[in-house]
Amino acid sequence: MMQEKVDTILKEISDSKASDADQLEAYRLKFISKKSVIGELFGELKNVPNDQKKEVGQQLNRLKSAAQEKFKELINEVDSSKHVESSGHADLTLPDGGTELGSMHPLNYVRFKIIEIFERIGFNVADGPEVEDDWHNFTALNFPENHPAREMQDTFFIERNPDVLLRTHTSNVQVRLMEKQKPPIRSIMPGRVFRNEAISARAHCVFHQVEGLYIDKNVSFVDLKHTLYHFAKEMFGKDTKVRYRPSYFPFTEPSAEIDISCQICHGDGCQLCKYTGWVEIAGSGMVDPNVLSNCDIDPEEFTGFAFGMGIERITQLKFRVDDLRLYTENDIRFLKQFRSLH
Ligand code: PHE
Repeated sequence: MMQEKVDTILKEISDSKASDADQLEAYRLKFISKKSVIGELFGELKNVPNDQKKEVGQQLNRLKSAAQEKFKELINEVDSSKHVESSGHADLTLPDGGTELGSMHPLNYVRFKIIEIFERIGFNVADGPEVEDDWHNFTALNFPENHPAREMQDTFFIERNPDVLLRTHTSNVQVRLMEKQKPPIRSIMPGRVFRNEAISARAHCVFHQVEGLYIDKNVSFVDLKHTLYHFAKEMFGKDTKVRYRPSYFPFTEPSAEIDISCQICHGDGCQLCKYTGWVEIAGSGMVDPNVLSNCDIDPEEFTGFAFGMGIERITQLKFRVDDLRLYTENDIRFLKQFRSLH
């Protein structure tokens, strides 16, 4: 008699299904709660003859465990079906997760900062094309016919036409400016430049420069020196030391490279400054008289200086970014570190 009841209930348990909370509760009331069918059977135990009590009791305990096992299974099923349901139908009553604001890209921050520093001392911003001809990128800038920069390995030519290329520096804007505007000229020209380089931590085929040009009567090397001296202190802090090293560019004479005291080790020597205590930040020089003549500016009447610097380089020194690829990979973990910039 008891055995039959137990078997029937076991079958009912294994056939039970639940697809929502109400059905789960119905199951719980029927098989788990004190007043459940199983609870009732435990109540009947007292009527079972003594010699069978032990065996029946064990049977009932097994039944109770089976009911509980099944209950767990049903709970899991209902839970997972809830997930499926919620991915199909958004719960519009839930609060949203908040909107993530983007942040300023470090290269933009540094570009704006450079512009701000030069604007305050009277420079305006000029722009020019990224796709350029040979004249504006090379010839007008006094590059000799056979200069290595004109090689395919260094410059991206468009459709193998030697007269259509991606500018290799922002100096093309110098030429365009001088061609259309007579001195005084006092401008900076930020922009993207392109070189045929394999991409690595230290080199990229696309990067950014800011060129500066100042042409007027009586502009001398002293003006150049003090303008960039001012820039270095504004950008990197009052204690920054600056030095000028003789150098060569086809479009400036004399030319100098500008170094500042290493921002990482402050002169003690580290990997970035190759243990010299100095890091290069810009090229510069007095505009070569040939370049002025090429742009119809009389070198007897006017003189000027020019400089050019890499924005990635300045950003590297300011924020210690040691891999150029980070700037263009758009890795959100990198970008999030610059949230406080504005
Ligand atoms: N155009 C030079 C370069 O790309 C930088 C430079 C600009 C040097 C102006 C001197 C004067 O390296």
